[in-house]
Amino acid sequence: MCWGLRNRLSKVISPKTGKTVMLAVDHGYFQGPTTGLRELKKAIDPLIPYADCLFITRGMLRNCVDPQTKSPIFLRVSGGPSILKDDLSDEHITTSMTEALRLNAVGVGMSIFVGGVNESRTVANLGKLVNEAEEYGMPVLAITAVGKEMARDERYLGLACRMAAEQGAHIVKTYYCDNFKEVVKACPVPIVIAGGKKIDEKDALQMARNAIDDGAVGVDMGRNIFQSENPVGMIKAINAVVHKNASVDDAFNIYEKEKK
Ligand code: 5RP
Repeated sequence: MCWGLRNRLSKVISPKTGKTVMLAVDHGYFQGPTTGLRELKKAIDPLIPYADCLFITRGMLRNCVDPQTKSPIFLRVSGGPSILKDDLSDEHITTSMTEALRLNAVGVGMSIFVGGVNESRTVANLGKLVNEAEEYGMPVLAITAVGKEMARDERYLGLACRMAAEQGAHIVKTYYCDNFKEVVKACPVPIVIAGGKKIDEKDALQMARNAIDDGAVGVDMGRNIFQSENPVGMIKAINAVVHKNASVDDAFNIYEKEKK
């Protein structure tokens, strides 16, 4: 792996803990003004100090993030259909590598839709993105997007993660599931979990705890942080689970304390 790529990855995955808390705020790329992110700048400014990087689109980056930010930027570079479409898999690469370099990104990310109508195109796009990104020492995050009809189980997520790794992704983002250990075992590149729909804070902390215990290198979490009653408390608590090996109870205390 080239020096530049390793250097960029080290800005995201802490060399001290080997873990990462990525803050996912790219949801608007197909959901529009998502609950909790309507006023994106207001929502994320207080969270940035507790995240290892932001996962964001170029438009929100340019308009809502201070260029003097200390936060490394992972750029979502795919898009196309909105939530109004039945087929979310109809994605293309929408942001160029030149733009990612111009924006000083430490990585680029896109979704693959295994089992989706456009599965083949999105997987091929991942391969092409890796080809291009590696020319510049840019890591690629592959997101195993799950269609409405797809089960989030070990068999399906294991398939999607492995396919992403086979195409050369440097990090894979997926969902937590029963037997997650098996998904990790079969995917020789670092895995981060998305949080999915908002759930109870303690349950979200438990999910993060389980994922780390099962071998994930961290989270790329959005809604369970920014839709929480107390987003700062929640990201601090997640950070403690990921980087300080905190128990769920200890992390929940951090959340509760911040609430007060
Ligand atoms: C959407 C994404 C989101 O970044 C991802 O789902 C993480 O956010 P959340 O924790 O809200 O699920 O990639 O395709």
